[in-house]
Amino acid sequence: MKTSIMDIISSRHSVRDFDPKPLADGALDAILEAGRLAPSAQNRQPWRYIVFTDPAKIRELAKNTGLVGLSNFFIKDAPCLIIACADTKKNVRINNQDYYLVDTAISFQQMILCAWEMGIGTCWLAAFSEKVLAKYLDLPKSWRIVAISPFGYPKDQKGLYSKAVSAFAGSTKRQVIEDMVIYR
Ligand SMILES: Cc1cc2nc3c(=O)[nH]c(=O)nc-3n(C[C@H](O)[C@H](O)[C@H](O)COP(=O)(O)O)c2cc1C
Repeated sequence: MKTSIMDIISSRHSVRDFDPKPLADGALDAILEAGRLAPSAQNRQPWRYIVFTDPAKIRELAKNTGLVGLSNFFIKDAPCLIIACADTKKNVRINNQDYYLVDTAISFQQMILCAWEMGIGTCWLAAFSEKVLAKYLDLPKSWRIVAISPFGYPKDQKGLYSKAVSAFAGSTKRQVIEDMVIYR
């Protein structure tokens, strides 16, 4: 039976414990294609992705994201890591709002859902120092780093750290529809 988009959306959860085995052939290409196809303000497509698949480089990167303490250090075990950036030269500003963040978030979430359909887990990460990471990656001045995510197959068992983080964040809870919607 075909998985529906709602099955993918409702079953997705952040994964922080990764099996180090590499992604299946073609999986990364499919994930990147899902990001490429995203809509964007004036179709400016500001997203830029830096992809790591070399375990040694991923471990090195995990030490250079400017994280405090051990937070998010779990990314070191993932077989693939993607840094979602946006070229602000492609930004559209309307009503005093910069849309590069919206555009890049849509594209990255499409990649995350596409990955999940293939059994590949991810975790949006914002707890990094953009300054430290941009310097480490030697990014162009017009690029912002929007988020990072590991991509990999979840381990069978959740570790203590990931259990604690999801409990702390109340990750399974969502607001009720009534708090979210105003019908007029
Ligand atoms: C923009 C954004 C930033 C996040 N940053 C982090 C982070 O730095 N570290 C982390 O462990 N989880 C991070 N998360 C994951 C959230 O904690 C998680 O999505 C939320 O608790 C809901 O849980 P779920 O993804 O398992 O459904 C982030 C999520 C988003 C959308």
